[in-house]
Amino acid sequence: MMTTTTTISQHDFYGDEDSETSVSVSVIENMKEEYGLFVWPCSVILAEYVWQHRSRFHGSSVLELGAGTSLPGLVAAKVGANVILTDDATKPEVLDNMRRVCELNKLNCNVMGLTWGVWDAPIFDLRPNIILGADVLYDSSAFDDLFATVSFLLQNSPDAVFITTYHNRSGHHLIEFLMVKWGLKCVQLRDGFSFLPSHKASVLSGNIQLVEIVLSSIKQQFV
Ligand SMILES: C[S@@+](CC[C@H](N)C(=O)[O-])C[C@H]1O[C@@H](n2cnc3c(N)ncnc32)[C@H](O)[C@@H]1O
Repeated sequence: MMTTTTTISQHDFYGDEDSETSVSVSVIENMKEEYGLFVWPCSVILAEYVWQHRSRFHGSSVLELGAGTSLPGLVAAKVGANVILTDDATKPEVLDNMRRVCELNKLNCNVMGLTWGVWDAPIFDLRPNIILGADVLYDSSAFDDLFATVSFLLQNSPDAVFITTYHNRSGHHLIEFLMVKWGLKCVQLRDGFSFLPSHKASVLSGNIQLVEIVLSSIKQQFV
């Protein structure tokens, strides 16, 4: 018998006033393949943050890094942001799934390959106001490349911010060190579960932080 590993999950976001419309996003997931084909808990938390701050996202230009199944970016598009969804340029199956998910939700996002630490021509034209990244800080060998890309994008759009959610497994030391190294600073740090509705929190676990990062005016030299 053939077992299918592809599923469609539905993610609902409710307004706190009766008159407000809620939003629903459907995501195609594949349980067998790539990291970028699941909805990870960090993505559920970042998507909820986008929804709860939707007036900040409406009309803004959003770029999602390591978007995978893209839930935060899709919610941003639903609330009126112009969205570019990106993931590793060497993973066509992840990028194809992102296009399918946009079609499924009738959202007109741009999808492009953007590998951290790689300077392909299109990256020079990107000027987002808000950069998102859910669970992109999971492999410490890739942290430098990720921060290099974030720092480059923020220097191109100095008023922009990077908002990311990550599992805090071993403290913030390496992330703090790399922020300083790449000329960045934290302007907001929150416990991801502090704003998650209880019906979503009850099915997730871990110590997930949300951090908002901007360019720092202080530059340090590393030898
Ligand atoms: C743990 S998954 C998170 C996916 C999605 N953001 C979520 O939270 O559901 C990490 C994502 O980062 C992407 N990624 C890993 N290394 C990358 C790199 N060097 N450049 C760009 N994307 C990368 C993966 O393809 C994957 O989609």
